[in-house]
Amino acid sequence: MLLEKGYLDVEIDPALDLFKEIDYLKKEKRAVILAHYYQDADIQDIADYIGDSLGLAQQAEKSEADIILFAGVHFMAETAKILNPSKKVLIPDLKAGCSLADSCPAGDFAAFKARHPDHIVLTYINCTAEIKALSDVIVTSTNAVQIVESFPKDQKIIFAPDKNLGAYINKKNGRNMVLWDGSCMVHEIFSLEKLIKLKVQHPDAKIIAHPECEAAILEHADFIGSTTALLNYTKKSSDQAFIVLTETGILHQMQKANPHKTFIPAPPNNSCACNDCPHMKLNTLEKIYIALKHEQPELLMADELIKTARAPITRMLELSAKFGL
Ligand code: 13P
Ligand code: SF4
Repeated sequence: MLLEKGYLDVEIDPALDLFKEIDYLKKEKRAVILAHYYQDADIQDIADYIGDSLGLAQQAEKSEADIILFAGVHFMAETAKILNPSKKVLIPDLKAGCSLADSCPAGDFAAFKARHPDHIVLTYINCTAEIKALSDVIVTSTNAVQIVESFPKDQKIIFAPDKNLGAYINKKNGRNMVLWDGSCMVHEIFSLEKLIKLKVQHPDAKIIAHPECEAAILEHADFIGSTTALLNYTKKSSDQAFIVLTETGILHQMQKANPHKTFIPAPPNNSCACNDCPHMKLNTLEKIYIALKHEQPELLMADELIKTARAPITRMLELSAKFGL
Protein backbone atom coordinates (compact mmCIF):
# COMPACT_ATOMS: atom_id res chain seq x y z
CA MET A 1 0.00 0.00 0.00
CA LEU A 2 1.50 3.35 -0.93
CA LEU A 3 2.46 6.21 -1.86
CA GLU A 4 1.55 7.39 -5.30
CA LYS A 5 -0.69 9.92 -3.66
CA GLY A 6 2.11 11.20 -1.42
CA TYR A 7 0.63 9.56 1.68
CA LEU A 8 -0.62 6.15 2.78
CA ASP A 9 -4.16 5.86 1.50
CA VAL A 10 -5.68 3.76 4.30
CA GLU A 11 -9.19 3.88 5.73
CA ILE A 12 -9.52 5.23 9.23
CA ASP A 13 -12.48 4.80 11.56
CA PRO A 14 -14.43 8.10 11.39
CA ALA A 15 -15.36 7.67 15.07
CA LEU A 16 -11.69 7.95 16.16
CA ASP A 17 -10.81 10.92 18.32
CA LEU A 18 -7.78 11.98 16.28
CA PHE A 19 -6.51 14.44 18.89
CA LYS A 20 -6.40 11.64 21.50
CA GLU A 21 -4.97 9.06 19.09
CA ILE A 22 -2.21 11.39 17.89
CA ASP A 23 -1.34 12.27 21.47
CA TYR A 24 -1.12 8.58 22.34
CA LEU A 25 1.07 7.79 19.30
CA LYS A 26 3.41 10.68 20.11
CA LYS A 27 4.06 9.28 23.57
CA GLU A 28 4.27 5.65 22.46
CA LYS A 29 6.79 6.41 19.70
CA ARG A 30 8.69 9.25 21.39
CA ALA A 31 7.66 11.48 18.50
CA VAL A 32 7.51 15.23 18.31
CA ILE A 33 5.30 17.29 15.98
CA LEU A 34 6.84 20.47 14.57
CA ALA A 35 4.33 22.66 12.72
CA HIS A 36 4.64 25.82 10.65
CA TYR A 37 2.28 28.73 11.35
CA TYR A 38 0.63 28.17 7.96
CA GLN A 39 -0.86 24.84 9.02
CA ASP A 40 -4.57 24.48 9.79
CA ALA A 41 -5.60 25.50 13.31
CA ASP A 42 -6.23 21.86 14.39
CA ILE A 43 -2.68 20.90 13.41
CA GLN A 44 -1.22 23.90 15.23
CA ASP A 45 -3.19 22.84 18.31
CA ILE A 46 -1.71 19.32 18.41
CA ALA A 47 1.85 20.45 17.64
CA ASP A 48 4.64 20.36 20.25
CA TYR A 49 6.22 23.39 18.65
CA ILE A 50 4.79 25.95 16.20
CA GLY A 51 7.11 28.37 14.47
CA ASP A 52 8.48 30.06 11.40
CA SER A 53 11.21 28.56 9.23
CA LEU A 54 14.05 29.64 11.52
CA GLY A 55 12.37 28.51 14.74
CA LEU A 56 11.50 25.16 13.19
CA ALA A 57 15.07 24.57 11.99
CA GLN A 58 16.40 25.43 15.47
CA GLN A 59 13.92 23.04 17.12
CA ALA A 60 14.69 20.26 14.63
CA GLU A 61 18.42 20.56 15.24
CA LYS A 62 18.11 20.14 18.99
CA SER A 63 15.27 17.59 19.07
CA GLU A 64 15.92 14.49 21.14
CA ALA A 65 12.78 12.68 20.01
CA ASP A 66 13.08 9.43 18.04
CA ILE A 67 10.69 10.68 15.37
CA ILE A 68 10.17 14.20 14.05
CA LEU A 69 6.82 14.58 12.30
CA PHE A 70 7.10 17.73 10.24
CA ALA A 71 3.77 19.45 9.57
CA GLY A 72 4.97 21.87 6.92
CA VAL A 73 6.30 21.50 3.40
CA HIS A 74 8.95 19.30 1.85
CA PHE A 75 11.93 21.69 2.06
CA MET A 76 11.25 22.19 5.78
CA ALA A 77 11.22 18.45 6.48
CA GLU A 78 14.40 18.12 4.42
CA THR A 79 16.03 20.82 6.54
CA ALA A 80 15.05 18.91 9.70
CA LYS A 81 16.61 15.72 8.30
CA ILE A 82 19.78 17.57 7.26
CA LEU A 83 20.18 19.07 10.73
CA ASN A 84 19.36 15.92 12.69
CA PRO A 85 20.00 13.01 10.32
CA SER A 86 19.84 10.20 12.89
CA LYS A 87 16.12 10.93 13.47
CA LYS A 88 13.29 9.42 11.52
CA VAL A 89 11.62 12.40 9.81
CA LEU A 90 8.00 11.91 8.74
CA ILE A 91 6.03 14.25 6.50
CA PRO A 92 2.23 13.82 6.35
CA ASP A 93 2.13 14.29 2.57
CA LEU A 94 5.25 13.96 0.42
CA LYS A 95 3.58 16.13 -2.23
CA ALA A 96 3.47 19.17 0.04
CA GLY A 97 5.91 21.20 -2.08
CA CYS A 98 6.51 24.92 -2.53
CA SER A 99 6.11 27.14 -5.60
CA LEU A 100 9.15 29.16 -4.53
CA ALA A 101 11.39 26.09 -4.18
CA ASP A 102 10.04 24.80 -7.52
CA SER A 103 10.99 28.09 -9.21
CA CYS A 104 14.68 27.26 -8.74
CA PRO A 105 15.74 23.98 -10.41
CA ALA A 106 19.25 22.88 -9.42
CA GLY A 107 20.65 22.54 -12.98
CA ASP A 108 19.53 26.04 -14.01
CA PHE A 109 20.78 27.50 -10.76
CA ALA A 110 24.21 25.85 -11.12
CA ALA A 111 24.51 27.49 -14.58
CA PHE A 112 23.40 30.87 -13.15
CA LYS A 113 25.98 30.55 -10.38
CA ALA A 114 28.69 29.71 -12.95
CA ARG A 115 27.87 32.97 -14.79
CA HIS A 116 28.68 34.94 -11.58
CA PRO A 117 31.99 33.37 -10.50
CA ASP A 118 33.06 36.17 -8.14
CA HIS A 119 29.79 36.14 -6.15
CA ILE A 120 28.91 34.35 -2.94
CA VAL A 121 25.53 32.62 -2.81
CA LEU A 122 23.02 33.51 -0.11
CA THR A 123 19.90 31.41 -0.36
CA TYR A 124 16.50 31.65 1.26
CA ILE A 125 15.68 28.45 3.13
CA ASN A 126 12.64 27.95 0.85
CA CYS A 127 14.61 25.86 -1.66
CA THR A 128 15.54 22.23 -2.25
CA ALA A 129 18.50 20.52 -0.56
CA GLU A 130 20.27 20.49 -3.95
CA ILE A 131 20.11 24.31 -4.05
CA LYS A 132 21.28 24.49 -0.43
CA ALA A 133 24.26 22.37 -1.41
CA LEU A 134 25.17 25.02 -4.01
CA SER A 135 24.97 27.85 -1.43
CA ASP A 136 27.39 29.53 0.97
CA VAL A 137 24.89 30.66 3.59
CA ILE A 138 21.17 29.98 4.05
CA VAL A 139 18.89 32.72 5.37
CA THR A 140 15.27 32.89 6.54
CA SER A 141 12.91 35.84 6.59
CA THR A 142 13.83 36.36 10.28
CA ASN A 143 17.57 36.76 9.77
CA ALA A 144 18.05 37.66 6.07
CA VAL A 145 18.54 41.41 6.57
CA GLN A 146 21.13 40.91 9.31
CA ILE A 147 23.00 38.12 7.55
CA VAL A 148 23.31 40.16 4.34
CA GLU A 149 24.43 43.16 6.42
CA SER A 150 27.19 41.06 8.01
CA PHE A 151 29.02 40.94 4.65
CA PRO A 152 31.16 43.87 3.46
CA LYS A 153 29.31 46.38 1.28
CA ASP A 154 31.45 45.54 -1.75
CA GLN A 155 30.89 41.76 -1.44
CA LYS A 156 29.19 40.51 -4.61
CA ILE A 157 26.18 38.38 -3.74
CA ILE A 158 23.71 36.16 -5.57
CA PHE A 159 20.41 35.98 -3.69
CA ALA A 160 17.98 33.15 -4.52
CA PRO A 161 15.27 32.10 -5.03
CA ASP A 162 12.83 34.84 -3.88
CA LYS A 163 13.16 38.03 -5.94
CA ASN A 164 10.70 39.89 -3.67
CA LEU A 165 12.61 39.18 -0.46
CA GLY A 166 15.85 39.92 -2.34
CA ALA A 167 14.53 43.27 -3.63
CA TYR A 168 13.32 44.15 -0.12
CA ILE A 169 16.81 43.48 1.32
CA ASN A 170 18.51 45.37 -1.53
CA LYS A 171 16.34 48.40 -0.75
CA LYS A 172 16.67 48.17 3.03
CA ASN A 173 20.42 47.51 3.09
CA GLY A 174 21.41 49.58 0.05
CA ARG A 175 22.73 46.47 -1.73
CA ASN A 176 22.78 45.39 -5.31
CA MET A 177 22.51 41.61 -4.96
CA VAL A 178 21.91 39.65 -8.15
CA LEU A 179 18.45 38.14 -7.80
CA TRP A 180 17.15 34.81 -9.00
CA ASP A 181 13.72 35.27 -10.58
CA GLY A 182 11.57 33.18 -8.20
CA SER A 183 8.54 33.96 -6.08
CA CYS A 184 5.90 32.55 -3.76
CA MET A 185 2.48 32.05 -5.35
CA VAL A 186 0.74 32.91 -2.06
CA HIS A 187 2.52 36.18 -1.29
CA GLU A 188 2.25 37.42 -4.88
CA ILE A 189 -1.52 37.10 -4.95
CA PHE A 190 -2.44 40.20 -2.96
CA SER A 191 -4.28 42.96 -4.77
CA LEU A 192 -2.98 46.50 -4.19
CA GLU A 193 -6.28 48.00 -5.30
CA LYS A 194 -8.28 45.88 -2.84
CA LEU A 195 -5.75 46.56 -0.09
CA ILE A 196 -6.17 50.32 -0.52
CA LYS A 197 -9.98 49.96 -0.44
CA LEU A 198 -9.72 47.82 2.70
CA LYS A 199 -7.56 50.43 4.39
CA VAL A 200 -10.18 53.10 3.58
CA GLN A 201 -12.79 50.91 5.30
CA HIS A 202 -10.49 50.31 8.31
CA PRO A 203 -8.42 53.49 8.62
CA ASP A 204 -7.13 52.59 12.08
CA ALA A 205 -5.93 49.12 11.09
CA LYS A 206 -2.16 48.64 10.78
CA ILE A 207 -0.98 46.94 7.57
CA ILE A 208 1.51 44.15 8.35
CA ALA A 209 3.22 42.16 5.58
CA HIS A 210 5.64 39.32 4.96
CA PRO A 211 8.69 40.33 2.86
CA GLU A 212 7.82 37.69 0.24
CA CYS A 213 5.11 40.17 -0.93
CA GLU A 214 5.75 42.38 -3.96
CA ALA A 215 7.41 45.81 -3.54
CA ALA A 216 4.21 47.73 -4.43
CA ILE A 217 2.41 46.01 -1.51
CA LEU A 218 5.32 46.39 0.91
CA GLU A 219 5.36 50.15 0.28
CA HIS A 220 2.00 50.37 2.04
CA ALA A 221 2.99 48.26 5.05
CA ASP A 222 3.37 49.75 8.53
CA PHE A 223 5.44 46.72 9.52
CA ILE A 224 7.29 44.07 7.48
CA GLY A 225 8.61 40.86 9.00
CA SER A 226 8.78 37.09 9.10
CA THR A 227 5.80 35.13 10.33
CA THR A 228 7.09 35.17 13.91
CA ALA A 229 7.94 38.88 13.71
CA LEU A 230 4.42 39.67 12.48
CA LEU A 231 2.91 37.67 15.36
CA ASN A 232 5.15 39.39 17.91
CA TYR A 233 4.28 42.81 16.47
CA THR A 234 0.56 42.17 17.02
CA LYS A 235 1.28 41.18 20.64
CA LYS A 236 3.37 44.25 21.45
CA SER A 237 1.37 46.84 19.51
CA SER A 238 -1.28 48.92 21.25
CA ASP A 239 -3.23 49.00 17.95
CA GLN A 240 -6.47 47.08 17.90
CA ALA A 241 -6.83 46.07 14.23
CA PHE A 242 -4.45 44.64 11.64
CA ILE A 243 -4.68 43.94 7.92
CA VAL A 244 -2.50 40.85 7.46
CA LEU A 245 -0.59 40.19 4.23
CA THR A 246 0.63 36.66 4.54
CA GLU A 247 -0.78 33.14 4.55
CA THR A 248 -4.01 32.90 6.58
CA GLY A 249 -2.79 30.15 8.95
CA ILE A 250 -0.96 32.71 11.12
CA LEU A 251 -4.29 34.36 12.03
CA HIS A 252 -4.99 31.44 14.41
CA GLN A 253 -2.04 32.32 16.66
CA MET A 254 -2.63 36.07 16.28
CA GLN A 255 -6.22 35.69 17.40
CA LYS A 256 -5.28 33.30 20.24
CA ALA A 257 -2.63 35.70 21.56
CA ASN A 258 -4.85 38.78 21.13
CA PRO A 259 -8.48 37.68 21.61
CA HIS A 260 -9.82 41.24 21.68
CA LYS A 261 -7.97 42.50 18.60
CA THR A 262 -9.26 42.28 15.02
CA PHE A 263 -7.32 40.57 12.22
CA ILE A 264 -8.36 41.10 8.63
CA PRO A 265 -6.77 38.84 5.98
CA ALA A 266 -5.80 40.98 2.97
CA PRO A 267 -7.76 40.10 -0.17
CA PRO A 268 -6.24 38.26 -3.11
CA ASN A 269 -6.55 39.63 -6.65
CA ASN A 270 -9.38 37.23 -7.49
CA SER A 271 -12.25 35.60 -5.64
CA CYS A 272 -10.61 32.34 -4.53
CA ALA A 273 -8.94 31.64 -1.18
CA CYS A 274 -5.51 31.92 -2.81
CA ASN A 275 -3.76 33.31 0.24
CA ASP A 276 -4.11 29.81 1.67
CA CYS A 277 -0.95 27.95 0.66
CA PRO A 278 -2.23 24.89 -1.26
CA HIS A 279 0.97 23.00 -0.37
CA MET A 280 0.83 23.64 3.37
CA LYS A 281 -2.87 22.86 3.35
CA LEU A 282 -2.30 19.34 1.93
CA ASN A 283 -1.52 18.27 5.50
CA THR A 284 -4.48 17.11 7.58
CA LEU A 285 -5.00 15.58 11.02
CA GLU A 286 -5.92 12.30 9.31
CA LYS A 287 -2.64 12.20 7.37
CA ILE A 288 -0.69 13.04 10.53
CA TYR A 289 -2.38 10.19 12.39
CA ILE A 290 -1.66 7.73 9.55
CA ALA A 291 1.95 8.91 9.21
CA LEU A 292 2.62 8.45 12.93
CA LYS A 293 0.86 5.09 13.10
CA HIS A 294 2.62 3.55 10.07
CA GLU A 295 5.79 5.67 10.23
CA GLN A 296 5.34 6.62 6.59
CA PRO A 297 5.96 8.63 4.47
CA GLU A 298 9.52 8.92 5.72
CA LEU A 299 11.79 11.60 4.31
CA LEU A 300 14.98 9.91 3.11
CA MET A 301 18.08 11.63 1.74
CA ALA A 302 21.48 10.57 0.43
CA ASP A 303 24.28 10.99 3.04
CA GLU A 304 26.41 13.03 0.65
CA LEU A 305 23.60 15.54 0.00
CA ILE A 306 22.93 15.83 3.74
CA LYS A 307 26.60 16.63 4.29
CA THR A 308 26.93 19.29 1.58
CA ALA A 309 23.59 20.94 2.33
CA ARG A 310 24.29 21.07 6.06
CA ALA A 311 27.28 23.45 5.99
CA PRO A 312 25.39 26.58 4.78
CA ILE A 313 22.47 25.89 7.17
CA THR A 314 24.83 25.48 10.12
CA ARG A 315 26.46 28.78 9.12
CA MET A 316 23.02 30.42 9.27
CA LEU A 317 22.29 28.95 12.71
CA GLU A 318 25.65 30.18 14.00
CA LEU A 319 25.04 33.69 12.66
CA SER A 320 21.48 33.70 14.07
CA ALA A 321 22.81 32.76 17.50
CA LYS A 322 25.38 35.56 17.23
CA PHE A 323 22.56 38.04 16.46
CA GLY A 324 20.47 36.70 19.35
CA LEU A 325 17.79 35.33 17.00
P1 13P B 1 8.79 32.23 7.40
O1 13P B 1 8.39 30.96 8.04
O2 13P B 1 10.26 32.47 7.48
O3 13P B 1 8.01 33.41 7.90
O4 13P B 1 8.49 32.08 5.83
C1 13P B 1 7.21 32.03 5.36
C2 13P B 1 6.99 31.02 4.32
O5 13P B 1 6.60 31.29 3.23
C3 13P B 1 7.26 29.65 4.65
O6 13P B 1 6.97 28.85 3.58
FE1 SF4 C 1 6.16 28.00 -0.53
FE2 SF4 C 1 4.78 30.25 -0.48
FE3 SF4 C 1 3.65 28.01 0.39
FE4 SF4 C 1 5.62 29.17 1.80
S1 SF4 C 1 3.60 30.00 1.43
S2 SF4 C 1 5.40 27.00 1.30
S3 SF4 C 1 6.88 30.00 0.16
S4 SF4 C 1 4.30 28.42 -1.72
